[in-house]
Amino acid sequence: MTDKPFTSSAPMISASVLSADFSKLDREIDEVLKGGADFLHLDVMDGHFVPNISFGPHYVESIRPVTKAYFDAHLMIDEPLRYAPAFVKAGANNITFHIEAVEDPEMVAKEIRKLGVHVGITLRPMTRIETLYPLLDLVDVVLIMSVKPGFSGQKFMPDQLEKARAIKPRMRPDQRLEIDGGINAATIRQARDAGIDWFVVASAIFDKPDRGAAIAEIRRALG
Ligand code: DX5
Ligand code: ZN
Repeated sequence: MTDKPFTSSAPMISASVLSADFSKLDREIDEVLKGGADFLHLDVMDGHFVPNISFGPHYVESIRPVTKAYFDAHLMIDEPLRYAPAFVKAGANNITFHIEAVEDPEMVAKEIRKLGVHVGITLRPMTRIETLYPLLDLVDVVLIMSVKPGFSGQKFMPDQLEKARAIKPRMRPDQRLEIDGGINAATIRQARDAGIDWFVVASAIFDKPDRGAAIAEIRRALG
């Protein structure tokens, strides 16, 4: 179950709990997973790397017993290596870090790998995709940010799809290309056409009263 995102090359929808109601997380998580989300995306923000603060390892630990679903942790924090072990211990299955947050991304990717989880790398919209090319062999996931990291509910940046088109042909079949920000029924198809495998969705699921219907609509838009 926890390796589900890698067992098939089918497009997967990852629900970002950033837009969930934190006072009833267990029910929120149950609803989106029963409603058709494939796994969960955990947006970790430190108030330094991005201008917002979300949650830390204790939150991940608290929701780990709620589900067997794969936990895809997106660390929007400075010093990701300092905190990665705590997130792995808390139950994260993947650690994705920002290339802008570290001095030696190769070392960071190798050290995260040693923790026994999948490794992801991502970049801000302003960062060039070529910066990731030398690291491709070291990661399982490349995450394209299609909004400025920090908040859910922002508008999709279609120009970021150029990055997907550039990097996808360089990736192995066992690696996954993920997109995060502004994905909904109106934007998902163009992202799929650009080569995206995993689609992170927060507001387009959690801001709707019927989460199952929202996920079904997004999936239908994949075609
Ligand atoms: C943004 C986060 C996203 C965010 C997506 O910094 O990394 O994962 O939750 O939110 P939506 O789907 O609302 O754009
Ligand atoms: Zn994210």
